[in-house]
Amino acid sequence: MKTQRLAQDESGILLAADLLRQGQTVAIPTETVYGLAADARNGQAVAAIYAAKGRPSFNPLIVHVAGLDQARTIADLPPAALELAQAFWPGALTLVLPLRADAGIASLVTAGLDTVAIRVPAAPVAQALLAQFDGPLAAPSANASGRISPTTAQHVLDPDGGLDGRIAAVLDAGPCPVGIESTIIGWPHGRAALLRPGGLPAEAIEAAIGGALLRPEADPDAPTAPGQLTSHYAPNAALRLSAEVPRAGETYIDFARAGEFTLSATGDLTEAAARLFDTLRRADSMGQPIAVAPIPDHGLGAAINDRLRRAAAPRG
Ligand code: TXA
Ligand code: MG
Repeated sequence: MKTQRLAQDESGILLAADLLRQGQTVAIPTETVYGLAADARNGQAVAAIYAAKGRPSFNPLIVHVAGLDQARTIADLPPAALELAQAFWPGALTLVLPLRADAGIASLVTAGLDTVAIRVPAAPVAQALLAQFDGPLAAPSANASGRISPTTAQHVLDPDGGLDGRIAAVLDAGPCPVGIESTIIGWPHGRAALLRPGGLPAEAIEAAIGGALLRPEADPDAPTAPGQLTSHYAPNAALRLSAEVPRAGETYIDFARAGEFTLSATGDLTEAAARLFDTLRRADSMGQPIAVAPIPDHGLGAAINDRLRRAAAPRG
């Protein structure tokens, strides 16, 4: 399959929507990362996502919709969920909600669960495509399973861990402004839980709900998002975290000082998140072990540290 590269203009968006209606897979820009989209109602199209990524099929996908009204045709939104949807959609927030019996979503999307993860992306090109397509799009990050998530169209097509030749097209809207996947919130035992830290800081959600989120990952007995596999976002090189200084033969990623690889010379966590995955890729291309400076664990730093821990985890 030859992967088409589509511009973010009207004809690119029309073509992307046409390919999606035909049951093809298209990599699309969102404000967090590029997603590999397919029609969420079409089981064969969704199967093609899993095949292109080499993704274990027990790991469910996020459904992207244009807005709250469309979300309500797929899932029930209890008052607590509605409050978050109204506060943060469109944006970098995914809600795990009870799946409606008449949702019409392919069972492969939810991996047979009775819940569904839903998100309304804010990126203008994603919004334009959803309006043009006029239906729900299932989309995981547009990388080979377990590899670093893509924040540019070039990453999607990267010969190393990319999807060139495995998908119909990529819609290019430049680099993703947030740069790290959405924050996932669910209510596994009736209380709001942080299932994955991400591009919307947990502190902002806690301020909105006026209380603390459960953090299942800190509690080994609590449920977590399926598919939060230990090794993920993996570069080819070994990764050493919280390194104050590099050792001989290591490529060093600094946090708050200028260097060859720096997440943010001014120590700005928003900038660091936006640059994280691209910096990891560029550091990895040096072909040596990578050491990363300590990164503050508040705000977007929590999501950055989560991704780095998985990138450093033992490979399965
Ligand atoms: O920013 C993002 O969220 C990006 C863009 C493309 O939207 N998407 C993304 O998708 O990160 P993916 O597939 O890489 O991660 C989806 C996560 C997985 O950890 C999966 O286990 C979890 O969402 N998930 C999906 N459905 C779920 C459900 N019903 N219950 C619990 N977790 C679920
Ligand atoms: Mg992913």
